[in-house]
Amino acid sequence: MNRRDFARLLALGGAVPFVTPEWSWAQGATLPPTPASPDEKFWLSVRDQFVMPKDLTMLNAANLCPAFGPVLETMYRLTKDMDQDPSSNNRAKLGNGRENTRKLLAEFLRVTPEDVVITRNTSESNNLVSTGIDLRAGDEVLLSADNHPSNHAAWQEKAKRFGFTVIDVPTPNPHPGFDHYVRAFTSAITSKTKVISFTHQTSTVGDLFPAKEICRLARERGILSLVDGAQSFGLMDVDLSDIQPDFYSGSSHKWVCGPKENGVLYINKSAQSKIWASIFSAYPGRVGVSRTFEGFGQRDEPTMIAFGEALTLQTKIGRAVIEKRSRELTQALMAGLKKIDGVKIWTSPDPMQTVAVLSFLPGSLDIRKLATALYQNDRIGCATRGGQDRPGIRFSPHFYNTHADVDRTIAAVKKYMTTGV
Ligand SMILES: Cc1ncc(COP(=O)(O)O)c(C=O)c1O
Repeated sequence: MNRRDFARLLALGGAVPFVTPEWSWAQGATLPPTPASPDEKFWLSVRDQFVMPKDLTMLNAANLCPAFGPVLETMYRLTKDMDQDPSSNNRAKLGNGRENTRKLLAEFLRVTPEDVVITRNTSESNNLVSTGIDLRAGDEVLLSADNHPSNHAAWQEKAKRFGFTVIDVPTPNPHPGFDHYVRAFTSAITSKTKVISFTHQTSTVGDLFPAKEICRLARERGILSLVDGAQSFGLMDVDLSDIQPDFYSGSSHKWVCGPKENGVLYINKSAQSKIWASIFSAYPGRVGVSRTFEGFGQRDEPTMIAFGEALTLQTKIGRAVIEKRSRELTQALMAGLKKIDGVKIWTSPDPMQTVAVLSFLPGSLDIRKLATALYQNDRIGCATRGGQDRPGIRFSPHFYNTHADVDRTIAAVKKYMTTGV
C-alpha cells in the first residue's frame, strides 16, 4: 500500500462510520419575512419549514408537533460537533448556548432569565411545583377539574403523602364563560387554600381559562398560582408579565415546534422563597433560580440550544400572528363541522373562549375506527377521546396547517358521516 492509498484509507475510515446525512431535507426553503397580512402563499412557505410530507395533514398539535427543520439541523450539527470532540474545552460553548436559550425563553414569555428553569417537559415542571411547596394536613389546593394527570393525579398522589386536601372546581361543558370561573374559584377559596392551579387552555376541548384574573385573585389572597401552559406555550402570545402567575409550565415539543424532552418552568421572584428544589446534582444553570432548580446532572445541551432556535423562528414569524392563524383555522374547521348532520361539537363556539383545540362527537360512528380511517385513507392525523366524558375526535390545528387541510378534513368527516366507517 503506497502512501496515497494509506491516506485514502484513513480518510475513509474516518468517514464511513459517521456518514454525514444529506441535510437539505431538513432545511426547507428560506422563511420569508411575515407580510402585514399573511396570505396562504406565506403560510405554505411556513409549511415548507417542516419535514412532514406534503400529503400529510397533521391536526394533533396539542399532543406533539413536528420540530422546525432548522431545529433538527441544529440538533444534529451540535451533537456531531460535541461527539467529535467531547472535551470540556469544546463543550464550553454549549453551556453558553444553553444560557442563551434561557434568555430567549425569558424574552418569549416576557420575564427575566433569572426566573426561568429549563426542564424536560410540562409534566416535570408541574411536578417540581407540587413536590416543592410545603403543604401539610389542613392545607387545601384548588384545581380546575379538567386537568392533565401531571397537574391532577400529581397533586392527588402528593396529598396522600403530605396530608393536604385537593378540591376540584367543576369545569362544565359548554364553556360557562370567564366570569363563571372567577366566581367559582372565589367561592371555593377558604382560609386553608394555599394553591390554585388550572390549565390555561384545556387539552380536552380547548376551554380557555381567565389566567390573569385567576392569578390576580390568588395573589390578592396570598395564594400561590400554577398555570399549566402545555396548551398555550407556543400557541398563544403568552405574556407572563401581564398574567403574573407564581408558576407557569410548558413543553418544547408541543406548539413551540421545538425538540422533544425540553420544557420550561417559570418561577416568579415573589414565589422563589416559597418552593424547594427537588433535584440536586451537578451542572445547574448559571443565573437566578436555575442555579438551584436546574441541577439535573448532565444535560443534552445541543437539544436545549435547538429549543432556543424554535423560539427564534416562532418570534420571526410573529407570536400574535401564529395565535391568530391557529384560531382562524380552528374556527374554519368548526364552521365546516357544524354543518355536518349528527356532529356534536364540545368546544366553545366563542373564538375568545378557545384557541386551537377542537373536539366533537361524530354521531354514532366508532371513534377509533374513524380516526384510523382518517389517517389511513385520508392522511389526516388527529387524537381520540374515549369514555363517557365528552368523547370523540380532537383536531388541534397549528400555523403549519393550511385552509386546504381544513377543507380536506371537513370533506373527509362528511364522507364518513354519510357512508359510515
Ligand atoms: C394540559 C397539559 N398539561 C401537561 C401535559 C403534559 O405534557 P408533557 O407530556 O409534555 O409533559 C399535557 C400533554 O398533553 C397537557 O395537555
